[in-house]
Amino acid sequence: MPVSYGEELHRLREDGLFRSMKRIEGGQGPRVMLEGREVVHLCSNNYLGLADHPGLKEAAIRATEKYGVGTGASRLVSGTMELHVALEKRLARFKGTECALVFNSGYAANTGVIPALVGKGDVVFSDRLNHASIVDGCLLSRARMVRYPHRDTAALRRLLDEHRGDGRCVIVTDGVFSMDGDLAPLADLVAIKNEYGALLMVDDAHGTGVLGATGRGTAEHFSVMSGVDIHMGTLGKALGCFGAFVAASAELVEYLVNRARTFIFSTSLPPSVLASAHAALDIVDSTEGGALRARLNRHADFMREALRKAGFDTLGSRTQIIPLLIGGAEKTMTFSSALCEAGLYIQGIRPPTVPTGGSRLRCTLMATHAEEELARVLEAVVRVGRRLGLV
Ligand SMILES: Cc1ncc(COP(=O)(O)O)c(C=O)c1O
Repeated sequence: MPVSYGEELHRLREDGLFRSMKRIEGGQGPRVMLEGREVVHLCSNNYLGLADHPGLKEAAIRATEKYGVGTGASRLVSGTMELHVALEKRLARFKGTECALVFNSGYAANTGVIPALVGKGDVVFSDRLNHASIVDGCLLSRARMVRYPHRDTAALRRLLDEHRGDGRCVIVTDGVFSMDGDLAPLADLVAIKNEYGALLMVDDAHGTGVLGATGRGTAEHFSVMSGVDIHMGTLGKALGCFGAFVAASAELVEYLVNRARTFIFSTSLPPSVLASAHAALDIVDSTEGGALRARLNRHADFMREALRKAGFDTLGSRTQIIPLLIGGAEKTMTFSSALCEAGLYIQGIRPPTVPTGGSRLRCTLMATHAEEELARVLEAVVRVGRRLGLV
């Protein structure tokens, strides 16, 4: 039977699930030009505003001048550059582990690391709301994937009991859930993984640089840094650059160099990115970084509480990711478009990114938003929400 992609596209449109990219002008700042109009940008993961920080740009330019723009091949083939080594040492120090290994993206890290850790005959326990790249990593691994109810450690224990003795066992969770902004119960997960002799991998794409007293992430927030076996983090969100990393024991990192296919079979990150990520970590560790984190948290607390008071369901958010649950896909996109008319860029998130009936706006804040600007954002979201009968 001939395949009709057109029909599939038609169905997506009919179901309100068709996706297209909006063209913006300018960088990932707090304001951007969207289709010819200036809007407040409330859907970037550039949480600390580092994506256009002068220190990061300077580092990228200097590295490009010294080393050029490309790395030529996978590091196992064309050699590992001093910039790779320096960044990995810095990342290991940042996460308090023996070693670290950079990957070309968070997606590549999850789809490389999980299949390296488990295979046929093993079990991977994955929170039901984990990011798609974790799900894909689990599927690629060919291990049995057991999805446990969101943040439900009692259910996880029952499932671990059911699968006792079924080969190697890994528990994997987002630290900050990317579409809900809530946190994994990491202290309980560490206790459970110790009790069951499992490995615990935490994808802290949205916590790294942001959470914890010094920005080490969700594990620092819960004071369990050393209880996590594999810290995965991204360089493209709060750190403002691109790429990802895994921080773990020297043995595990050596193993991943030999077994993680997305590391082995892919050209490595370029000098500009390695140098700017290194500069980003130095900023996160500086007084400036502390001030940016504090400002981001103030913004997030203000906005989350005010939206809740106005009647929006912000789910379990405790972070700078603030969902506004709407339910239906079409209604969500109508709200997003109406907000765009009012000068706010807040993306609608629909299935399959979120479960059916769980469509929402995903509002994300940056330290670089101005306080007065956020007061205006709040007023507009509530006004438009009321007009559409959503609150
Ligand atoms: C929790 C989580 N993990 C992994 C990723 C993938 O990271 P990257 O964008 O670097 O591929 C994302 C990105 O959106 C994410 O939210």
